[in-house]
Amino acid sequence: MLPKDTLKDRVAIITGGGTGLGRAMALEFVRLGAKVVVASRKLENLQQTVREIEKLGGRALAVPTDVREPAQVENLVAVAKERFGKIDILVNNAAGNFICRAEDLSVNGWRAVVGIVLDGTFYCSRAVGKEMIAQGTGGNILNIIATYAWTGGPGTIHSACAKAGVLAMTQTLAVEWAQYKIRVNAIAPGPVDTEGAAQALWPSPEAKKLVEQTVPLGRFGQPIEIAHAAAYLVSDYASFITGATLVIDGGQWLGHGHYLGTLERFTSERSRP
Ligand code: COA
Repeated sequence: MLPKDTLKDRVAIITGGGTGLGRAMALEFVRLGAKVVVASRKLENLQQTVREIEKLGGRALAVPTDVREPAQVENLVAVAKERFGKIDILVNNAAGNFICRAEDLSVNGWRAVVGIVLDGTFYCSRAVGKEMIAQGTGGNILNIIATYAWTGGPGTIHSACAKAGVLAMTQTLAVEWAQYKIRVNAIAPGPVDTEGAAQALWPSPEAKKLVEQTVPLGRFGQPIEIAHAAAYLVSDYASFITGATLVIDGGQWLGHGHYLGTLERFTSERSRP
């Protein structure tokens, strides 16, 4: 675990910070000394995270925001700055997802997911980036993507295309904003046991079992495992890392398309009397 003052006095905005991975990152950043602004559409989720943080003696602020709306994003940044005086860290974690065949996906369905993931990440990065450039003290942006940004994502074409865009954005901004000492990195989590992901991606126990079987380490990830890596990447311990994506998936994406199963079947067939 990182030492307790790793993010001392840093101010972090975390989108989607009311639930799941966002909430876990907010709690971990606060444990490491940061002040946190959580933003999403559902105020009650945000308020619950803030209450939890305050119970731990930390400082946090809830700002209801739809990241698809540039004016709401500008408001988020203004309110965060007003309350805490600066912004050091942005985590673009807000996401939307559901499984749907490409031919059945409506225009609104496409727009909802691409709007949250790709547009939202850009609006937040632009608004916070401008602030960080003006502050002149550097900063950190962390994007949450998925390995299907590289492989394509049958069943989630909207999310896969949006995450691929965010991967390109990560690499682009890492170079553009290096001169301002703003580091831009990404995490690609595999299946992590959160309520939101479960609802969207493995809604039944059978589906959950099938997903689990795709992970070489044989289990789902836990939100805290993502939060630890996120804290590392936005901390000074990662001061020479920019434009990178850290895959945290128990080996899941490397397990695709190998021949081990075939070999085992072939061997057992040959050894039959
Ligand atoms: N299958 C097919 N289409 C779906 C769908 C599903 N499971 N869920 C939503 N849609 C479609 C809707 O039908 C609508 O299209 P239409 O007007 O043509 O009918 C469109 O998507 C927008 O849906 P709506 O619910 O109005 O959008 P929203 O902005 O309120 O919600 C979502 C955005 C759809 C991404 C919603 O799932 C969401 O907010 N999720 C947040 C949490 C989340 O998904 N986390 C993912 C963790 S991996």
